[in-house]
Amino acid sequence: MAGVCDSPFRQICKQHGADVIYTEFLSAEALIRNNKKTLEMLKFSPKEQPLVCQIFGKNPATIAQAAKIIEQAGYAGVDLNFGCPAYKVVKTGGGVSLMRDLNKVHDIIAAVCQTVAIPVSIKIRARIGLKTIIRDLIEERDTEDEKLETAGQVTALDLVKKISDLKISAIMIHSRSYEQAFDGVPDLEMVKAVRQIYPGILLVNGGIYTPEEAKRQLDETRADGVGLARGVLGNPWLFQQIHDVIPTESAPSGRAEGTLTYTQPTLARRSLGEVGWQERKQTMLQHAKIALELKGPPALIELRKHLAWYIKAVPKAKELRSKLVQVKTLAELKKILPI
Ligand SMILES: Cc1cc2nc3c(=O)[nH]c(=O)nc-3n(C[C@H](O)[C@H](O)[C@H](O)COP(=O)(O)O)c2cc1C
Repeated sequence: MAGVCDSPFRQICKQHGADVIYTEFLSAEALIRNNKKTLEMLKFSPKEQPLVCQIFGKNPATIAQAAKIIEQAGYAGVDLNFGCPAYKVVKTGGGVSLMRDLNKVHDIIAAVCQTVAIPVSIKIRARIGLKTIIRDLIEERDTEDEKLETAGQVTALDLVKKISDLKISAIMIHSRSYEQAFDGVPDLEMVKAVRQIYPGILLVNGGIYTPEEAKRQLDETRADGVGLARGVLGNPWLFQQIHDVIPTESAPSGRAEGTLTYTQPTLARRSLGEVGWQERKQTMLQHAKIALELKGPPALIELRKHLAWYIKAVPKAKELRSKLVQVKTLAELKKILPI
């Protein structure tokens, strides 16, 4: 997640049971031009492995060159973004808008597969209308939905069929359309349809905030795993909670009906609100310490949003929240969160 999934947060996710972590997306163009900020974002700790670096762009040669840089930096894999609906990405012809040009998608993936030896994966959406352009992802959605019906669309299934000759290692489907942006009912039927034709690792993403929802989506789609996003903001415990209800051994891809069994929970199950306050505080302080070590004092400003997310499930925390979003030093944070 852009602006969220930096090295400190990734380390917290790893410690809490994430199997594979993706970086926030990096611009392929910026990477090959040695943009200072982007090169800074490329840094990671070996503790985060297996770590996949995600890139976006629209030019096959540029993206392939960026993938080479990622391989040389020691990443376990490279992920290509064909799912981002942000206007600033879509207007440049990148992200989800590439789903409208499946020849280009094919060219990009083929170029990357020819250039690197590390696994290549893709992130796509369930569908996109052929003509919709959404400037404001929240306000214009309803009207654009109407246009979608008359304008035709490209689906995840179309895309996966188009690239069936290419050797990609995994596909993550955000099971919403471009027009739905970040809300609305996930289209699990589309993920199920892709499962029928794609035997590789398939990950379902979108709207997974509880272990029950993770299990439901896996049961319904027969995907091999789930992609978590907003569900782990301030709640890295969700990784372990999902492991507790779903078998951790790697499931064979293209699972046959009836082969999936669920183990008994290995740890006592806890709901979001039941993660102890002491444990929550310790994680917040640890997150702050890692961020300070890696980024120095400005890290605490960036961390404020995470601190607010950590306490969103804590009742009557208005006063605490207002202190956390103003915190400037670790000493101050320790005073606000005494252990
Ligand atoms: C703030 C924010 C930043 C995001 N950045 C990225 C990104 O860099 N790459 C990506 O593939 N998806 C990104 N996403 C999309 C999420 O990965 C995910 O597909 C989407 O939020 C749906 O999952 P959820 O309903 O579980 O949050 C971002 C989402 C949010 C809210």
